[in-house]
Amino acid sequence: MINRRDFLEQGAMGAAGLLLASKTGLASAAGSRAADSRIEVLFDEPLGTVSPNIYGHFVENLSGVLYDGIWVGENSPVANIDGLRKSLIEHMRKIKAPVIRFPGGCFADSYDWRDGIGPAEKRPRRTNFWAMGESEKAPASHRYDPNAVGTNEFVHFSKLIGAEPYLAANVRSLPASAFQQWVEYCNAPAGSTTLADARAAAGYPDPFRVKYWGVGNESWGCGGEFTPQEYAVEFRRYSTWLPTYGDNLNLIASGPNTDEWSWTRQFLEEVLRKGPGGLRRIYGIALHHYAWNLSRGKTQEWVAGKGDALKFEAVDWYELLREGERMEGLVTGHWQVLSEFDRQHRVKLVVDEWGPWYRPGSEATPGDQLEQMPTLRDAVFSGMTLDIFNRHPEKVAMANCAQLINCLNSLYLAHEDKFVITPVGHLFELYASHQGGQALRTIFSAPNVQYDRDGQSASFWGLRGSASMRDKNLTITAVNPDTSESRLAEISLRGATVKEASMRFLSNADIHAHNSFEQRDVVVPQTKPLSLSAGSLVVEFPPASVAALTIQLH
Ligand code: AHR
Repeated sequence: MINRRDFLEQGAMGAAGLLLASKTGLASAAGSRAADSRIEVLFDEPLGTVSPNIYGHFVENLSGVLYDGIWVGENSPVANIDGLRKSLIEHMRKIKAPVIRFPGGCFADSYDWRDGIGPAEKRPRRTNFWAMGESEKAPASHRYDPNAVGTNEFVHFSKLIGAEPYLAANVRSLPASAFQQWVEYCNAPAGSTTLADARAAAGYPDPFRVKYWGVGNESWGCGGEFTPQEYAVEFRRYSTWLPTYGDNLNLIASGPNTDEWSWTRQFLEEVLRKGPGGLRRIYGIALHHYAWNLSRGKTQEWVAGKGDALKFEAVDWYELLREGERMEGLVTGHWQVLSEFDRQHRVKLVVDEWGPWYRPGSEATPGDQLEQMPTLRDAVFSGMTLDIFNRHPEKVAMANCAQLINCLNSLYLAHEDKFVITPVGHLFELYASHQGGQALRTIFSAPNVQYDRDGQSASFWGLRGSASMRDKNLTITAVNPDTSESRLAEISLRGATVKEASMRFLSNADIHAHNSFEQRDVVVPQTKPLSLSAGSLVVEFPPASVAALTIQLH
């Protein structure tokens, strides 16, 4: 039996080998149909500010993510800005991408940042962590890292987008001094040190001021196979001294896999063994959760439990959402453990890897390792997940969808001159207006969806979402998971009056709908104006949909 830890430890050696591993709108518009659902926004129950970083991204040097997806090279016929794919940068600006994590993932703990600086032609080629999972036909750059993209290029990419870079340091195979020097390379004032001079020589005299730093990745597995206590000792050592140059460094500790509560607890116990100062060094604890097991309880086996990205039944649709829905319990559960140690709640959760993970076979670019085809199901899943984060703004400081392009829950697919925005990419655009808003407690009431789960009747909630307010603009996002029925919801705004309202949503009669290089616009946002009827707003949410309502209040 293989689990995710084994899979990753085999350095993806195994990946190939193993599996061969409204009218939306008015009550009147709905004719005789009465509302079956209700959304009540409680303006006097603010939950906290939605950190824009909840809408963050993750880029690993893994197969087609970096080389092909992001980096095409300065001399490429593909439109680029300094070698970086232009169409990608443009859409990421549009969705206001706030933060991007790099260079891994598992790759981070075998990466030496010093290989990726200095003149490009002098940079060494190194064996990629994921090399053994690549086929012989894979481009050389996917197996042997050319280091064309290093710190300079990645930070430049982030800044072109307007996003903060979040760098993950290597704890498994580099000493603490390499971490200190990476911070120095990025953040030391111009002219101050030899590394600051090296940065200036590459064209970047001003400090990058990188403020988010991961201390290892999945240290329970590919990041070193540490016990929580061992990792806590390493964390204390790596974080004892780092140069700050007057800025706060926000250190993110490698955290639990899904519901491993004992990791969170034992890590914190050990960090605190030397005194309360240990907590002050931690900005966030990373939580990873992939929705991968679609076996309906039949197996926990990492390969056998996976479902297909494209070939699935309605039951698999609900099963994926059920797996994703676990995120809410993970956030509240790990928060509860944190509360035992940190009563003031200084330390936050950073969900820096999340998304569905299917079996291989649906790649837009055959051969790309870990690439899968996102469908409408994944957009609905992603909306549901972002709504969970929005509902817990005091707990979740950052979240990073895994991964940005040509990978798992990707917003984009690209190959050479081909580029397409997936339903997940469009979903991030729909949800962007939550960033920085004041989250409001909102009650969603709707009949449950009933479905057949291996001959047993199963149920799933019928409508859920989140709401946030900025100035006089209210954003409500909602998921209707029902594959065949729309939901007609009355929106109660408790005393507020509506000036203007509109809705954008993703839906399709086919739950497998997706965008490909050939058919790029199968799942794209649709817009519906909303109008008031007798002072109330009644909105129809189509079957299998995720929607964003923008409501301007007087
Ligand atoms: O996102 C793919 C891999 O999943 C990452 O490298 C690792 O951190 C996780 O297990």
